[in-house]
Amino acid sequence: MSGTTRWPDGFSEAARRCRRCVVLTGAGISAESGLVTFRGMQGLWEDFNPLDYATPEAFERDPAKVWNWYQWRRDKLPLVEPNPGHLAIAELEGLFPEFLLVTQNVDGLHQRAGSRRLVELHGNIGRNKCSLCSALTQAGPATGEVPPRCGCGGLLRPDVVWFGEALPQEAMASAWEASRAADLFFSVGTSGLVQPAASLPVAAKQNGAYLVEVNPEPTPLAQMSDLALAEPAGQAMPAVAWEVRRLRNGKLL
Ligand code: APR
Repeated sequence: MSGTTRWPDGFSEAARRCRRCVVLTGAGISAESGLVTFRGMQGLWEDFNPLDYATPEAFERDPAKVWNWYQWRRDKLPLVEPNPGHLAIAELEGLFPEFLLVTQNVDGLHQRAGSRRLVELHGNIGRNKCSLCSALTQAGPATGEVPPRCGCGGLLRPDVVWFGEALPQEAMASAWEASRAADLFFSVGTSGLVQPAASLPVAAKQNGAYLVEVNPEPTPLAQMSDLALAEPAGQAMPAVAWEVRRLRNGKLL
Protein backbone atom coordinates (compact mmCIF):
# COMPACT_ATOMS: atom_id res chain seq x y z
CA MET A 1 0.00 0.00 0.00
CA SER A 2 1.29 3.52 -0.66
CA GLY A 3 0.08 7.10 -0.39
CA THR A 4 -1.66 6.66 -3.75
CA THR A 5 -3.68 3.60 -2.67
CA ARG A 6 -7.45 3.85 -3.23
CA TRP A 7 -8.95 3.42 0.27
CA PRO A 8 -12.54 2.20 0.51
CA ASP A 9 -14.99 5.06 1.14
CA GLY A 10 -16.08 3.42 4.35
CA PHE A 11 -12.54 3.61 5.71
CA SER A 12 -12.03 7.23 4.67
CA GLU A 13 -15.32 8.23 6.28
CA ALA A 14 -14.61 6.30 9.48
CA ALA A 15 -11.09 7.76 9.74
CA ARG A 16 -12.32 11.30 9.07
CA ARG A 17 -15.12 11.11 11.68
CA CYS A 18 -13.35 9.00 14.30
CA ARG A 19 -13.10 10.40 17.82
CA ARG A 20 -12.16 7.17 19.63
CA CYS A 21 -9.61 4.84 18.05
CA VAL A 22 -8.29 1.54 19.46
CA VAL A 23 -5.39 -0.51 18.12
CA LEU A 24 -4.89 -4.12 19.29
CA THR A 25 -1.51 -5.67 18.54
CA GLY A 26 0.06 -9.10 18.75
CA ALA A 27 3.43 -10.68 18.05
CA GLY A 28 3.11 -10.05 14.30
CA ILE A 29 3.83 -6.33 14.73
CA SER A 30 7.30 -7.21 16.05
CA ALA A 31 8.07 -9.84 13.39
CA GLU A 32 9.71 -7.27 11.08
CA SER A 33 11.93 -6.20 13.99
CA GLY A 34 13.31 -9.75 14.04
CA LEU A 35 11.30 -11.22 16.94
CA VAL A 36 9.57 -14.48 16.03
CA THR A 37 5.85 -14.88 16.62
CA PHE A 38 4.38 -17.65 18.79
CA ARG A 39 2.37 -19.58 16.23
CA GLY A 40 2.71 -20.38 12.54
CA MET A 41 5.91 -21.28 10.73
CA GLN A 42 9.02 -21.08 12.97
CA GLY A 43 6.79 -19.76 15.79
CA LEU A 44 8.22 -20.08 19.32
CA TRP A 45 5.61 -22.71 20.27
CA GLU A 46 6.88 -24.89 17.38
CA ASP A 47 10.14 -25.41 19.30
CA PHE A 48 9.08 -24.84 22.90
CA ASN A 49 6.10 -26.44 24.61
CA PRO A 50 4.17 -23.64 26.35
CA LEU A 51 3.33 -26.10 29.15
CA ASP A 52 7.06 -26.31 29.94
CA TYR A 53 7.81 -22.56 29.73
CA ALA A 54 4.69 -20.42 30.14
CA THR A 55 2.59 -21.77 33.03
CA PRO A 56 2.86 -21.29 36.81
CA GLU A 57 3.16 -25.08 37.10
CA ALA A 58 6.22 -25.08 34.80
CA PHE A 59 7.84 -22.41 37.00
CA GLU A 60 6.98 -24.43 40.10
CA ARG A 61 8.54 -27.53 38.55
CA ASP A 62 11.72 -25.97 37.19
CA PRO A 63 12.14 -22.23 37.95
CA ALA A 64 15.65 -22.06 36.45
CA LYS A 65 14.54 -23.53 33.11
CA VAL A 66 11.70 -21.05 32.81
CA TRP A 67 13.84 -18.12 33.98
CA ASN A 68 16.63 -18.93 31.50
CA TRP A 69 14.16 -19.16 28.63
CA TYR A 70 12.86 -15.65 29.36
CA GLN A 71 16.43 -14.42 29.83
CA TRP A 72 17.19 -15.79 26.36
CA ARG A 73 14.24 -13.75 24.99
CA ARG A 74 15.26 -10.70 27.04
CA ASP A 75 18.79 -10.78 25.67
CA LYS A 76 17.42 -10.31 22.12
CA LEU A 77 15.66 -7.02 22.93
CA PRO A 78 18.71 -4.71 22.93
CA LEU A 79 19.56 -6.17 19.49
CA VAL A 80 16.25 -5.18 17.83
CA GLU A 81 14.53 -1.88 17.06
CA PRO A 82 10.90 -0.79 16.68
CA ASN A 83 9.91 -1.05 13.00
CA PRO A 84 7.81 1.29 10.80
CA GLY A 85 4.67 -0.51 12.02
CA HIS A 86 5.39 0.42 15.65
CA LEU A 87 6.31 3.99 14.65
CA ALA A 88 3.11 4.45 12.61
CA ILE A 89 0.97 3.34 15.55
CA ALA A 90 2.77 5.84 17.80
CA GLU A 91 1.91 8.51 15.25
CA LEU A 92 -1.76 7.49 15.11
CA GLU A 93 -1.93 8.18 18.84
CA GLY A 94 -1.63 11.91 18.13
CA LEU A 95 -4.30 11.99 15.42
CA PHE A 96 -7.39 11.08 17.47
CA PRO A 97 -8.95 12.83 20.48
CA GLU A 98 -9.21 9.47 22.24
CA PHE A 99 -6.80 6.67 21.49
CA LEU A 100 -5.74 3.45 23.18
CA LEU A 101 -3.14 0.90 22.13
CA VAL A 102 -3.87 -2.51 23.61
CA THR A 103 -0.91 -4.83 23.23
CA GLN A 104 -0.49 -8.52 23.95
CA ASN A 105 3.25 -8.11 23.43
CA VAL A 106 5.71 -8.21 26.31
CA ASP A 107 8.71 -6.86 24.31
CA GLY A 108 8.33 -3.13 25.11
CA LEU A 109 8.88 -2.12 21.45
CA HIS A 110 5.75 0.04 21.36
CA GLN A 111 7.06 2.13 24.25
CA ARG A 112 10.46 2.40 22.51
CA ALA A 113 8.63 3.64 19.40
CA GLY A 114 7.05 6.45 21.44
CA SER A 115 3.61 5.02 22.24
CA ARG A 116 2.29 6.37 25.52
CA ARG A 117 -1.43 5.74 25.60
CA LEU A 118 -1.19 1.97 25.92
CA VAL A 119 -2.06 -0.98 28.11
CA GLU A 120 -0.11 -4.24 28.29
CA LEU A 121 -2.49 -7.20 28.62
CA HIS A 122 0.18 -9.86 29.06
CA GLY A 123 2.79 -7.95 31.07
CA ASN A 124 6.34 -7.04 30.07
CA ILE A 125 9.53 -9.16 30.18
CA GLY A 126 11.52 -6.05 31.03
CA ARG A 127 10.11 -6.33 34.55
CA ASN A 128 10.41 -8.93 37.29
CA LYS A 129 7.72 -9.89 39.75
CA CYS A 130 8.30 -11.65 43.06
CA SER A 131 6.45 -14.97 43.09
CA LEU A 132 5.86 -14.49 46.83
CA CYS A 133 5.12 -10.81 47.54
CA SER A 134 4.40 -9.70 43.93
CA ALA A 135 6.79 -6.74 44.21
CA LEU A 136 7.70 -5.42 40.75
CA THR A 137 11.26 -4.49 39.78
CA GLN A 138 13.09 -3.60 36.55
CA ALA A 139 14.87 -6.59 35.08
CA GLY A 140 18.65 -6.25 35.16
CA PRO A 141 21.65 -8.27 33.99
CA ALA A 142 21.43 -11.89 35.14
CA THR A 143 23.91 -12.48 38.00
CA GLY A 144 24.18 -15.05 40.82
CA GLU A 145 21.34 -17.36 41.74
CA VAL A 146 18.97 -18.45 38.93
CA PRO A 147 16.29 -17.26 39.31
CA PRO A 148 17.37 -14.43 41.59
CA ARG A 149 15.46 -13.73 44.80
CA CYS A 150 13.42 -10.80 46.02
CA GLY A 151 14.34 -9.07 49.28
CA CYS A 152 11.50 -11.05 50.86
CA GLY A 153 13.22 -14.29 49.84
CA GLY A 154 10.70 -15.15 47.12
CA LEU A 155 11.87 -16.29 43.67
CA LEU A 156 11.69 -13.63 40.97
CA ARG A 157 9.80 -14.42 37.78
CA PRO A 158 9.22 -12.34 34.62
CA ASP A 159 6.19 -10.00 34.99
CA VAL A 160 4.24 -11.73 32.24
CA VAL A 161 0.84 -13.44 32.22
CA TRP A 162 1.21 -17.20 31.89
CA PHE A 163 -1.42 -19.56 30.52
CA GLY A 164 -4.04 -20.15 33.20
CA GLU A 165 -3.29 -16.85 34.96
CA ALA A 166 -5.59 -13.83 35.20
CA LEU A 167 -4.80 -10.73 33.16
CA PRO A 168 -4.06 -7.44 34.96
CA GLN A 169 -7.53 -6.20 35.93
CA GLU A 170 -7.03 -2.49 35.28
CA ALA A 171 -5.48 -3.04 31.86
CA MET A 172 -8.27 -5.41 30.85
CA ALA A 173 -11.00 -3.07 32.12
CA SER A 174 -9.53 -0.15 30.12
CA ALA A 175 -9.26 -2.37 27.04
CA TRP A 176 -12.90 -3.48 27.26
CA GLU A 177 -14.17 0.04 27.89
CA ALA A 178 -12.20 1.56 25.01
CA SER A 179 -13.10 -1.27 22.61
CA ARG A 180 -16.82 -1.01 23.29
CA ALA A 181 -16.70 2.76 22.74
CA ALA A 182 -14.41 2.71 19.69
CA ASP A 183 -15.40 4.25 16.35
CA LEU A 184 -12.41 2.75 14.60
CA PHE A 185 -10.60 -0.43 15.65
CA PHE A 186 -7.41 -1.91 14.17
CA SER A 187 -6.41 -5.53 14.89
CA VAL A 188 -2.74 -5.80 13.91
CA GLY A 189 -0.49 -8.86 13.86
CA THR A 190 -2.50 -11.17 16.06
CA SER A 191 -3.82 -14.66 15.28
CA GLY A 192 -6.87 -13.92 17.44
CA LEU A 193 -6.56 -17.31 19.14
CA VAL A 194 -6.01 -16.19 22.72
CA GLN A 195 -8.79 -14.94 24.97
CA PRO A 196 -9.84 -12.52 26.28
CA ALA A 197 -7.85 -10.28 23.90
CA ALA A 198 -9.40 -11.99 20.86
CA SER A 199 -12.86 -10.81 21.94
CA LEU A 200 -11.97 -7.11 21.92
CA PRO A 201 -12.30 -6.55 18.14
CA VAL A 202 -15.57 -8.52 18.18
CA ALA A 203 -16.96 -6.31 20.95
CA ALA A 204 -15.87 -3.21 19.05
CA LYS A 205 -17.54 -4.39 15.85
CA GLN A 206 -20.73 -5.31 17.71
CA ASN A 207 -20.78 -1.78 19.13
CA GLY A 208 -20.57 -0.21 15.70
CA ALA A 209 -16.83 0.33 15.20
CA TYR A 210 -15.28 0.24 11.72
CA LEU A 211 -12.99 -2.79 12.00
CA VAL A 212 -9.68 -3.18 10.17
CA GLU A 213 -7.54 -6.32 10.31
CA VAL A 214 -3.85 -6.12 9.35
CA ASN A 215 -2.30 -9.56 8.91
CA PRO A 216 -0.51 -11.15 5.92
CA GLU A 217 -2.42 -14.36 6.80
CA PRO A 218 -6.05 -13.29 7.33
CA THR A 219 -7.59 -14.77 10.47
CA PRO A 220 -11.27 -15.63 11.13
CA LEU A 221 -11.64 -11.96 12.11
CA ALA A 222 -11.17 -10.95 8.45
CA GLN A 223 -14.68 -12.22 7.74
CA MET A 224 -16.26 -9.67 10.05
CA SER A 225 -13.81 -6.88 9.29
CA ASP A 226 -14.82 -3.88 7.22
CA LEU A 227 -11.33 -3.84 5.74
CA ALA A 228 -8.72 -6.63 5.75
CA LEU A 229 -5.19 -5.58 4.79
CA ALA A 230 -3.43 -8.87 4.02
CA GLU A 231 0.11 -7.57 4.28
CA PRO A 232 2.90 -6.98 6.81
CA ALA A 233 2.18 -4.32 9.44
CA GLY A 234 5.47 -2.58 8.63
CA GLN A 235 3.99 -1.73 5.24
CA ALA A 236 0.30 -1.36 6.03
CA MET A 237 0.44 0.79 9.17
CA PRO A 238 2.64 3.60 7.73
CA ALA A 239 0.18 3.79 4.79
CA VAL A 240 -2.74 3.88 7.25
CA ALA A 241 -1.07 6.68 9.25
CA TRP A 242 -0.28 8.58 6.06
CA GLU A 243 -3.93 8.36 4.91
CA VAL A 244 -5.37 9.24 8.32
CA ARG A 245 -3.07 12.25 8.59
CA ARG A 246 -4.14 13.33 5.07
CA LEU A 247 -7.84 12.88 5.88
CA ARG A 248 -7.58 14.73 9.16
CA ASN A 249 -5.19 17.35 7.84
CA GLY A 250 -2.84 16.22 10.56
CA LYS A 251 -5.28 17.63 13.09
CA LEU A 252 -7.01 16.05 16.12
CA LEU A 253 -10.40 17.45 14.92
N1 APR B 1 2.69 -8.08 10.16
C1 APR B 1 1.45 -8.37 10.63
N2 APR B 1 1.09 -9.60 11.08
C2 APR B 1 2.04 -10.57 11.02
C3 APR B 1 3.35 -10.34 10.51
C4 APR B 1 3.65 -9.02 10.06
N3 APR B 1 4.86 -8.70 9.58
N4 APR B 1 4.05 -11.50 10.58
C5 APR B 1 3.20 -12.44 11.11
N5 APR B 1 1.99 -11.87 11.37
C6 APR B 1 0.81 -12.49 11.97
C7 APR B 1 0.68 -13.99 11.75
O1 APR B 1 0.02 -14.28 10.52
C8 APR B 1 -0.16 -14.41 12.96
O2 APR B 1 -1.55 -14.38 12.65
O3 APR B 1 0.90 -12.31 13.36
C9 APR B 1 0.13 -13.32 14.01
C10 APR B 1 0.90 -13.78 15.25
O4 APR B 1 0.10 -14.67 15.93
P1 APR B 1 0.62 -15.39 17.27
O5 APR B 1 1.97 -15.90 17.06
O6 APR B 1 -0.46 -16.33 17.67
O7 APR B 1 0.74 -14.19 18.31
P2 APR B 1 -0.38 -13.47 19.16
O8 APR B 1 -1.66 -13.38 18.44
O9 APR B 1 0.21 -12.22 19.65
O10 APR B 1 -0.54 -14.49 20.41
C11 APR B 1 -1.34 -14.13 21.48
O11 APR B 1 -0.53 -15.97 22.78
O12 APR B 1 1.30 -17.23 23.11
C12 APR B 1 0.50 -16.28 23.70
O13 APR B 1 0.94 -14.68 25.35
C13 APR B 1 1.24 -15.03 24.03
O14 APR B 1 0.56 -12.72 23.68
C14 APR B 1 0.64 -14.00 23.08
C15 APR B 1 -0.72 -14.57 22.79
